[in-house]
Amino acid sequence: MKYLDRMRAKAAEALNRESVRILAVESSCDETAAAVVENGRRILSSEVYSQIPMHIPYGGVVPEIASRSHIDKLDVVTGRALAQAGMSLEDMDAIAVTRGPGLVGALLTGLSYAKGLAYGLDKPLLAVNHIEGHVCANFLAHQNLHPPFLCLIVSGGHSHLAEVREEGYTLLGCTQDDAAGEAFDKAARVLGLPYPGGPHLDEMAELGDPNSHALPLPHPPGAYDFSFSGLKTAFINLVHNLEQRGAEAKPADLAACFRKTVVSHLSQRTLKACLDHGWTTLALAGGVSANRALRRELTELCEAHQIRLVMPPLSLCGDNAAMIGAAAFLQLKRLDLASLDVNAEPGLRLFALK
Ligand code: KG4
Ligand code: ZN
Repeated sequence: MKYLDRMRAKAAEALNRESVRILAVESSCDETAAAVVENGRRILSSEVYSQIPMHIPYGGVVPEIASRSHIDKLDVVTGRALAQAGMSLEDMDAIAVTRGPGLVGALLTGLSYAKGLAYGLDKPLLAVNHIEGHVCANFLAHQNLHPPFLCLIVSGGHSHLAEVREEGYTLLGCTQDDAAGEAFDKAARVLGLPYPGGPHLDEMAELGDPNSHALPLPHPPGAYDFSFSGLKTAFINLVHNLEQRGAEAKPADLAACFRKTVVSHLSQRTLKACLDHGWTTLALAGGVSANRALRRELTELCEAHQIRLVMPPLSLCGDNAAMIGAAAFLQLKRLDLASLDVNAEPGLRLFALK
């Protein structure tokens, strides 16, 4: 029997059992992560090793350092995830791994590791889209969440407004330039905050006055599209002008103004999409879903319009492997397995282009 047919038979057999356990591995950027997930809904263990301290001196992720550190840590975090779940590799029904998007070298380390495990154990391999993983993080925290729903995906590399259905994703809108997380990171850098700046800017903004300075709300032409590069330039100009004039401006006020404008832009367009398309469930996904102001604003807007809002807990907003395990389970159910020559896809998309 051909390899994939044999693996599909194994997957079908596993799906007949009450509990299907997937070992998932994630290494697309600067986190090395492994998790054991049951039936795509229950986290049995989740280990994340962050490389952030290694990249801080460079002000951003250095791809070569990231790849080398993943190689060092993949086996360690996997061992910890299995131990925490009280299980062995033999107890796993399938191995899942992120295949893209991300840094090619970083992706290849996880992919090669997962292929080795799948081959050695003779178990099905699932190659997962990282963005789909972020969406599926919500399934781990909200047991009664089922498609269809609208999802705002905001991370360091992506900003999408997508309709999520059993049969797939439809893109309603996306950023025309920078991603939301990228915009936060760039603004944070202007304020002298360390990489990755988003969480630092968010924390600082809590102490500032969001109405102390005027920044323009972006207006890209597509009703559900986003744009952050003009806002970024306006922010840089504002900071420089204040400096040149020797004006006293509190960094916390500047952070609060920038955050308020990004959050208004994201939430206004997301609300419009909900109302125009009749969505009554909205999910938030990606690293920026940890942003306190965004969570507060969407909570208020959704309450006012009787929209159910689901958000990942903070532990599942950033990159982790549990979300990859959740997405992988849906793939397993479709018997959408990977062959052992599957390659990394740094530019992988979740949607057909608009
Ligand atoms: O999803 P993620 O962990 O990685 C990607 O797939 O890109 O997102 C990381 C991004 C970074 O740009 C980071 O600064 C941003 O999410 N981020 C935040 C916050 N926490 C993480 N941005 C704003 N406020 C936060 N609290
Ligand atoms: Zn991510």
